[in-house]
Amino acid sequence: MRVHQPLLLLVSFCLLAASHFAVAQHATGSDVFSGEQAYQNYCANCHGKTGNQIANIDLGHGIFRKPYSDDELMNIVMKGIANTPMPATPNMSREQAVQIVAYLRSRAVLKDVGAGGDAARGKALYAGKGACTDCHRINGEGSRVGPELSRIGLVRTSDQLATSLLDPNAEVQPNNRFYSVTTRSGQHISGRLLNHDAYSVQLLDDKEQLRSLMKSDLQKEEFIASPMPSLRGKFDDKELADLVQYLVSLRGADKP
Ligand code: HEC
Ligand code: HEC
Repeated sequence: MRVHQPLLLLVSFCLLAASHFAVAQHATGSDVFSGEQAYQNYCANCHGKTGNQIANIDLGHGIFRKPYSDDELMNIVMKGIANTPMPATPNMSREQAVQIVAYLRSRAVLKDVGAGGDAARGKALYAGKGACTDCHRINGEGSRVGPELSRIGLVRTSDQLATSLLDPNAEVQPNNRFYSVTTRSGQHISGRLLNHDAYSVQLLDDKEQLRSLMKSDLQKEEFIASPMPSLRGKFDDKELADLVQYLVSLRGADKP
């Protein structure tokens, strides 16, 4: 399930209208986000949604058959590869190609993202700099605003975990979606959607209170973006690897 962020697309488009080189160094989270959208539109039917449908090419992990410079990648993306089925995309703007290259480069970070990470350091980052306990619970400690992570290492790969940390809205599990309601008296309440039926809605709000509301009392209700902040630009590659390694180690072990 996907929560769209049309605003990001707009912002990044304006930002990028003027810039045209050194893609990787200047890429922002929103370039990468727009690049992913463009990738899914123009490229995914051949390369696959996750980028590994063509032999020896794994765009989803930044794995190419040889090292390319940003300029070479730009050329491939816009002009294709002569005498191969890799087509030119004539109606693609340079800005879009820049965003796609930024997206492809961002995926390289995800290659073995947990490799070399130190779980003990990751644990310290989790509780400290990451402030993850504000929203998550592990073995009985922390908040219930976000999903429980005690067994996350059993159910997600390191790639999926890194994606959750860098792009929290990219793939939200259906039972983790955020919902916002406005009551007829004008009160706004948002939280993790626990349940809803024809008559009522149950949310867990940001103070971990269970809120049960009758639909007849609401003037507005809608899904909203995940409140989880992205770590892009906040954690470097090493810190990300440490944190992912810690999450991978969470397998619901000793404490119930
Ligand atoms: C019609 C199918 C098709 C579409 C659409 C397509 N590709 Fe390709 N792409 C290929 C094929 C096939 C190859 C391998 C060509 C070869 O044999 O050299 C390739 C090669 C590539 C390579 C070179 C990889 C390497 O390791 O050498 C890159 C990068 C690439 N594509 C990116 C993209 C991007 C980005 C898009 C979307 C803008 C895209 N492709 C759209 C079929 C496609
Ligand atoms: C402001 C609250 C908030 C903070 C702070 C926060 N998260 Fe989250 N997190 C959420 C919510 C809500 C979700 C569920 C929606 C989603 O997937 O984005 C989530 C989802 C996740 C998931 C995906 C769970 C799954 O089932 O796939 C992981 C992993 C995760 N968070 C780890 C972290 C880590 C590690 C930190 C600290 C760096 C962190 N979160 C900080 C609220 C938060």
